[in-house]
Amino acid sequence: MNRKMVAVLVVLALLSQPVLIDARSKDLKEIKLPAPKEIRMSLEKALMRRNSVRVFSEENISLKDLSTILWAAYGYTSKGRTIHCFNCAVKIYVLMKDGVYVYDPERHALVLYKEGDYRNVSQYKAPVQIGIVWNRTKGEENLSCAEIGAIGQNVYLAANALDLGTVTTVGFTLKSIGLPKNEVPKIIMPLGHLKHPYKFIYFPFLISNFPRVKFSNVSLTEALNDLGKCEEFGGNLTEQEKAQIIWSTYGYSYYVDFTKDEFRYHLYRHRTVPSAHAYYPLRIYAITKEGIYRFIPNIYDPIYKIPIAFIPIPIPVFSFIVKVKGGDHREVVSEAIDVNVSSSPLIIISILDLDRTRPKGHDDFSGKEFRWLWYYEAGASAHNALLEAITFNLSASVYPIKSKETILNLLELSEDKFDPLLVTAIGISQRR
Ligand SMILES: Cc1cc2nc3c(=O)[nH]c(=O)nc-3n(C[C@H](O)[C@H](O)[C@H](O)COP(=O)(O)O)c2cc1C
Repeated sequence: MNRKMVAVLVVLALLSQPVLIDARSKDLKEIKLPAPKEIRMSLEKALMRRNSVRVFSEENISLKDLSTILWAAYGYTSKGRTIHCFNCAVKIYVLMKDGVYVYDPERHALVLYKEGDYRNVSQYKAPVQIGIVWNRTKGEENLSCAEIGAIGQNVYLAANALDLGTVTTVGFTLKSIGLPKNEVPKIIMPLGHLKHPYKFIYFPFLISNFPRVKFSNVSLTEALNDLGKCEEFGGNLTEQEKAQIIWSTYGYSYYVDFTKDEFRYHLYRHRTVPSAHAYYPLRIYAITKEGIYRFIPNIYDPIYKIPIAFIPIPIPVFSFIVKVKGGDHREVVSEAIDVNVSSSPLIIISILDLDRTRPKGHDDFSGKEFRWLWYYEAGASAHNALLEAITFNLSASVYPIKSKETILNLLELSEDKFDPLLVTAIGISQRR
């Protein structure tokens, strides 16, 4: 080939480049999502209204609502993202009537993945199904599922505040959409309008030894927008602040849910996070300068086999924060997570109580292969603390536990019965 010919070929190749790009972008069907709505509901009200919905009407969801929910789930803000990522090893698929789309958070758009209606992969019929997968080349399974827990929590809170409904379900069936090899299906969340409208009755029938939750004037959108990472700790918190942040991790709602429901296991009093099989197997410990405390959301739960929330009569919630050990142990926690949180005014640790994942006569989810389910729950719980901290102009960060043994020794718990999952440390850096 002579020089002239090479030059002609190079020029032709360069000229053809934009045409190729153009052709590709035309093939790629994309839905640019409108700007998300501002959700004005206070964060605490949204947390108290979190519940699972399984029966939907046929009415479609508006693109504006879908945009709001996807942004809340995993979108970008001026400070970062709407969740704390360990590795951001999660991808969201959106299954609609005409096809399966991938949510692109950076461009806040839906990109067509596959044409066709695959919504029947879900346990519950709804106009939209949100499929959440773990990208195993980007992060470890359990921590990625904690990220999915935070995402799921945002889907619950945003959907509910928009008068829509959703439920976290195990989503292995999502594989039938044909996923790339590195993606593992984890969760499917149907999304739709309710067949029967919400009927929440405010009834804070609560007996407790800590201050009651106050509704802040921080909206869900404001809290999500303000979620920044805190690396600087120090200062003191009031009893109200401590109690409210601890409550947000696993507490009971002040509302009773009388929404008409065709699902057999309707809960009348929900908690701030969902739980697989409603087992609620986490123990929440709070660590301050003064000592170690255990949060008992309701004394009935450990005593009775049926969770109190299944009983349709108004029974009081007996909720306590109990001191289990004196002294300042924050350095020990710092050692366990390999981050210095020894001046954090409040540290929260979620511990899996394995016996509560294998109740007699019910499915046994205590095996390692099911651990991701409980990391989902711990991720949702920690995420609530991050959001609630913002209402007090505080910031917080969530950490994996590097030395589980150190935490077990500190709390005097045995390895065969307990598994420490996550640590959340609250800081005051935003307030200064
Ligand atoms: C990780 C996880 C998996 C779940 N899987 C299912 C499921 O497959 N099907 C279902 O109907 N509900 C599922 N749930 C929802 C729980 O049953 C529900 O959260 C629990 O009963 C409490 O009810 P509430 O969310 O209405 O307060 C799951 C929840 C979690 C956190």
